[in-house]
Amino acid sequence: MKRIAVFTSGGDAPGMNACIRAVVRGAVYHGIEVFGIRKGYSGMIAGDMYEMSSHSVSNIVQRGGTILKSARSKEFMTIEGREKAHKALVENGIEGLVAIGGNGTFTGAMIFEREFGIPTVGAPGTIDNDLYGTDYTIGFDTAVNTALDAIDRIRDTASSHDRVFFIEVMGRDSGYIAIQSGIAGGAEVVMVPEVLTPLSTVVDTLRQGWSRSKSSSIVVVSEGEEEGNATEIANKIKAQVNVDVDIRVTTLGHIQRGGSPSARDRILASRLGLGALEGLMAGQKNVMAGIINDDLVYTPFEDTIRLPKPINEDMLRMVKILSI
Ligand code: F6P
Repeated sequence: MKRIAVFTSGGDAPGMNACIRAVVRGAVYHGIEVFGIRKGYSGMIAGDMYEMSSHSVSNIVQRGGTILKSARSKEFMTIEGREKAHKALVENGIEGLVAIGGNGTFTGAMIFEREFGIPTVGAPGTIDNDLYGTDYTIGFDTAVNTALDAIDRIRDTASSHDRVFFIEVMGRDSGYIAIQSGIAGGAEVVMVPEVLTPLSTVVDTLRQGWSRSKSSSIVVVSEGEEEGNATEIANKIKAQVNVDVDIRVTTLGHIQRGGSPSARDRILASRLGLGALEGLMAGQKNVMAGIINDDLVYTPFEDTIRLPKPINEDMLRMVKILSI
């Protein structure tokens, strides 16, 4: 392989830049030309790509976001879009791709390889940590720490005013951010999409706390929670508790997607970027590089897309015990 390209796609995640850097510097080290494609599949269709050098990725290891920008492309879901992308890659002499993103990105890459034969190796970049085939995804650790910082701050004001706070964190259909930030932040309750938490259980836990003179409480709600968003859940709880309780809601939103990546994310991203590149060079395709038990592994896209990555439900039991 003489020339490859790297791109980021889907929701951005802190550490994507460290991953791009690893792909580019790895390619330079191995004597391969490397292009950067801007805005994911949209940029591929538009032929928006440029040659990168070691210098192109200077001073980015510490930066959040992605210097290549990211997008979710509807056009790439059509055969016409993929034909245009293929033409642009051929015109630029690109023989293989490193895709940094999540399952949407990998689904597109797999279809593209079957139709046009351009191989892709993926690196898991998403704050949600919802990808089978790696213990952690790039950006998750930073997002958890950002959420935790917010929970700690909210705890201060919650306890000054004897309030109950419902804090909504991201994660789409996955409770990983909720469970880890909730445990680290000493939440009284954590609600995740994977496990049903009846509202009566939330009410009981809050009541038990009040009976022990606990004046403030924090309920961490994952955005994909079945009972609704944090505001809807807070309203339902207020209607059920029947006592004069001061409830507030905070939705953390996209602040969880930004910021300087943690050391853990930078190291993970560096390993996965280099791992994806070297996998591609060794002839791998349609696989995602991941780290399991500290070992670099490659998992077929088919499995990362199809197989769930369950949360550790024992962690929820721990929340209950530790909030007593
Ligand atoms: O997948 C990452 C994520 O941040 C999810 O946690 C969230 O549901 C979604 O992306 C938000 O997407 P957007 O940035 O398009 O609003």
